[in-house]
Amino acid sequence: MSTSTTVVVLGLTSVVLYYGLRRTRSEPAQSAPYPPGPKGLPIIGNVLDMPKNGQDWLTYAVWGREYKSGIVGVKLLGQPIVIINDGDILSEFDRVSHLYSDRPPMQMAGNLVGYAKTLVLMPYSPTFRSFRKHFARIMGSPAQLKQYLPMAEQKAKAFVRRMLAHPTELEPQLRTLAGSIILNIAYGITVEERDDRFVTMIERILAEGFNNAAVAGKFLVDVMPALKFVPEWLPGAGFQTLARKWRNDFNDMVNVPYQFATQLIADGVAPVSFVSTSLELDDSTAEIENIKHCAASMYGAGADTTVSTEHAFFLAMLLNQDVQKTAQAEIDSVTGGERLPTYADREHLPYVHALVTELLRWHNVAPLGVPHRAMEDGVVHGHFIPKGSIIVANLWQMLHNPEVYPDPLVFDPTRFIASPGKEVQRDPRHACFGFGRRICPGMHLAEASVYAVVAMSLAVFDILPVMKDGKPIIPQHSNTDGTISHQPHFPYVLRARSEKAVTVVQRETADL
Ligand code: HEM
Repeated sequence: MSTSTTVVVLGLTSVVLYYGLRRTRSEPAQSAPYPPGPKGLPIIGNVLDMPKNGQDWLTYAVWGREYKSGIVGVKLLGQPIVIINDGDILSEFDRVSHLYSDRPPMQMAGNLVGYAKTLVLMPYSPTFRSFRKHFARIMGSPAQLKQYLPMAEQKAKAFVRRMLAHPTELEPQLRTLAGSIILNIAYGITVEERDDRFVTMIERILAEGFNNAAVAGKFLVDVMPALKFVPEWLPGAGFQTLARKWRNDFNDMVNVPYQFATQLIADGVAPVSFVSTSLELDDSTAEIENIKHCAASMYGAGADTTVSTEHAFFLAMLLNQDVQKTAQAEIDSVTGGERLPTYADREHLPYVHALVTELLRWHNVAPLGVPHRAMEDGVVHGHFIPKGSIIVANLWQMLHNPEVYPDPLVFDPTRFIASPGKEVQRDPRHACFGFGRRICPGMHLAEASVYAVVAMSLAVFDILPVMKDGKPIIPQHSNTDGTISHQPHFPYVLRARSEKAVTVVQRETADL
């Protein structure tokens, strides 16, 4: 999902207003109490208590401490919002996830433009389950992903070569890399190294259409869904014109790469891809629609998230030179500096594995996950969760809880390396990919992509601060607001570790 797509998916306001205003059902008397939280005012509830300056996860964590509860609740105009701050309580939701796997609908981005046809915004439904099966078939486990690893490895090598040639282009090159892996898996498309037409088109469409359409509170139709029936020619219905334009773009994003993939199949030159294998299983008209939208879901949800993690890796190394050196030494001990590390080396690189684990904890790509919606009344951890509640998992707090991760802001892979008398800390994978039936279906691909960038970059580069007046510029680690949170741009130096490292890259990428 491109950057602010994001702002949106999590922008609760409009959704909340919508639900709050239409909520007329009186809640049944319950013996279990609603989760504790700020008291709020009559009718508007907690509207005035809600965080206004961004980084909402910090306010939610403070509420957790204030009310001494890993689960807190607020109401906005009667709309319940339940916030989970604790990893153990998240696991309790996991166990009854059939009740908590819907998404709050978004009228403009989801229904009018069309993004509700992609997995992230799709309501819980038979189509949702069929999309999840598609994802599971192709990337549901490391074994299923295996057939794509040689390709992903080649792409990561090509990335390192490009970074040697253009060391200041970290962010665009990470985007090209993530796009090239996902488009290959989804459609069998091989992208150009620069200005690829598919990557450019999809990034533009997500940035213009989704990111704007999903901005909380921007469109009245999100608050008053009946407006979606207003015809475009009526004065004041400009949102319909925008929705039509963005819907056309959305359809291009769904159809153009798909048509390219089917042309490859027709020409008999298609590599194995999600589209090619899915069409072999079922090419009925109804299924083709599913395959197209499922493939389109991959780029939207998978590219921006992976880029965010990989970008943060470079910052983590810049800030932690000792960690960088330890990881480089481990890689050298396996490769002898004679070749680039591969997926086959992963099991022999425990420190690098721990470094990736720590990266998933330290830099939260989705600090508040993506909101779920309760489909039934229920009781979790002794608290009543009314039907229709929006469930927000404060993943940032779960992964920065000092009781679970001492000195949580410190980047320290040894948290996850056992030694005599020392237990490892909780694996961040219990939270960083979300929960229940909506847990990230791309997590194995995400990890494989991140590992390749981490291992190959460490093998080839020293990642260093920029020097100014003889002093290093030390950037701060921070999380931007939005569903997908990024480390803002920071100055860095990438320096090849040795002439030999450069030669190895040249040799291993000669035929790419
Ligand atoms: C480091 C990279 C990634 C992180 C940290 C991440 C994290 C997440 C999180 C937190 C969610 C929300 C889960 C929930 O609702 O509880 C999610 C959903 C999703 N992710 Fe990922 N993700 C990553 C990479 C990927 C990749 C590579 C793909 C696919 C190519 C992908 C596809 C999806 C999809 C389709 C959803 C929506 C699932 C649904 O609504 O059922 N993600 N991800």
